[in-house]
Amino acid sequence: MTGGNPLRDAQDRRLPRIAGPSGLVIFGVTGDLSRKKLMPAVYDLANRGLLPPGFSLIGFARRDWADQDFAQVVHDAVREHSRTPFREEVWQQLAEGFRFVPGEFSDDQAFENLGSTIEELDKARGTGGNFAFYLSVPPKFFPKVVRQLKDHGLSEGRGDSWRRAVIEKPFGHDLASAQELNKVVHEVFRPSDVFRIDHYLGKETVQNILALRFANTMFEPLWNRSYVDHVQITMAEDIGIGGRAGYYDGIGSARDVIQNHLLQLLALTAMEEPASFDAKALVAEKLKVLMAVKLPQDLGKHTVRGQYAHGWQGGEEVLGYLEEEGIDPNSTTDTYAAIKLEIDNRRWAGVPFYLRTGKRLGRRVTEIAIVFQRAPYSPFDTTDTQELGQNALVIRVQPDEGVTIRFGSKVPGTSMEIRDVTMDFAYGESFTESSPEAYERLLLDVLLGDANLFPRHQEVEESWRILDPVEAFWENAGKPEQYTAGTWGPKAAQEMLARDGRSWRRP
Ligand SMILES: NC(=O)c1ccc[n+]([C@@H]2O[C@H](COP(=O)([O-])OP(=O)(O)OC[C@H]3O[C@@H](n4cnc5c(N)ncnc54)[C@H](OP(=O)(O)O)[C@@H]3O)[C@@H](O)[C@H]2O)c1
Repeated sequence: MTGGNPLRDAQDRRLPRIAGPSGLVIFGVTGDLSRKKLMPAVYDLANRGLLPPGFSLIGFARRDWADQDFAQVVHDAVREHSRTPFREEVWQQLAEGFRFVPGEFSDDQAFENLGSTIEELDKARGTGGNFAFYLSVPPKFFPKVVRQLKDHGLSEGRGDSWRRAVIEKPFGHDLASAQELNKVVHEVFRPSDVFRIDHYLGKETVQNILALRFANTMFEPLWNRSYVDHVQITMAEDIGIGGRAGYYDGIGSARDVIQNHLLQLLALTAMEEPASFDAKALVAEKLKVLMAVKLPQDLGKHTVRGQYAHGWQGGEEVLGYLEEEGIDPNSTTDTYAAIKLEIDNRRWAGVPFYLRTGKRLGRRVTEIAIVFQRAPYSPFDTTDTQELGQNALVIRVQPDEGVTIRFGSKVPGTSMEIRDVTMDFAYGESFTESSPEAYERLLLDVLLGDANLFPRHQEVEESWRILDPVEAFWENAGKPEQYTAGTWGPKAAQEMLARDGRSWRRP
């Protein structure tokens, strides 16, 4: 009992969230994601004291490795990619809980071995039978791995212990495949034990959308059709497809980014205030707003796709998409996509949400810009306000995390000239502690069973409902427009906004 002392209550709630006895199995542990993100996240959590002392990590992959070989691979990944400094004593304790199980996903004996390894770890390290299975594998194997877990009795814990599945994106490639995958996964795991990763939700700046909107009074009164002119949500990358041709070709930027990350950002930006911040209440609001999202009638005018062509980026000559290794020279896959969406509800009717994403664009940036209407009347001379733009509130998701507010201000001098200025909040300047990596936060949440930051299957399906007609339209719409690498995308994207009397921001 805290006896109702508000100060002590506040302190108690900020006690570190430490995972209870548990372990993690990573399928596809030799992959890129595992080495660059998951292994470092496990170490960083251990280093911050957020994992239980007997925490165990089992790697599953097609390699003839002993436990020590696996430990060496994790060690190298941690040394190269972890966020926090390397500490030998933390490493030693963590590494005692490492095991490796070699095998193919179709290999029954390998899953039996996995079961014995889990039992051995339960006894040796007191994991309590609590294990999360992280499917960091090519999506076509999601159903197979989930079924193997069931067939070998690994998907259900005994007694009070839990078993959870963590599933990477992409979750399906259209509505039908997502529904099919959900069906398979829910035959094996209870919906509350399935954690679908959208790593954007693990980012501090994305969670800050909720703080900004619902912990303050000054923004929410303006957050609607009476004051907002439009919203732009951008995720721009400067890189090309790198070594991921096999994954990317045939998928494209809209399926890779808009279906998950950008529609989640839209949902958090546009949703109503949830009754609380538990997963159920949050999902209910996100789902409600996603259900109200509509595509405009004329997709030819209000969607654009592009493909990067040869160009220069950061002083380096780079290949066009069709010249990249492993890409079909006739591929029509989009590396750039822009879509106008409408939200049919009282708050947003008539306010367009423009979403865009692309590879090989001018710079790497993700931001949400709420662009406000112009003042209904200006008492100033038009010559004095010709440099004045629209007010905007920009949530800078990455890099350079923070929030910018743009407004008009008088230029010093004897005339009443007014120009835009900005007011800035930067995470780096306001807080001393650095932000945890998204995967750190999300892995800890999985171990704690906290589902707030994980999209539920209804949201995933709703997002495909929005995107499927666009993909179907593009399929019969010829080739995507080429844009020079290092620029801000196809001309048609500029024209799309110009037709509405608007323009894309240059972040
Ligand atoms: N990389 C990223 O940044 C990123 C970002 C977002 C989402 N994702 C998602 O995360 C997942 C993993 O991505 P990734 O880039 O790490 O993929 P990856 O580098 O291709 O790794 C795939 C892993 O699966 C294993 N594997 C493939 N077929 C197997 C089989 N039949 N039996 C056993 N193991 C098999 C591979 O083992 P071998 O070494 O034996 O081939 C490898 O460990 C995918 O769902 C991807 O869409 C990745």
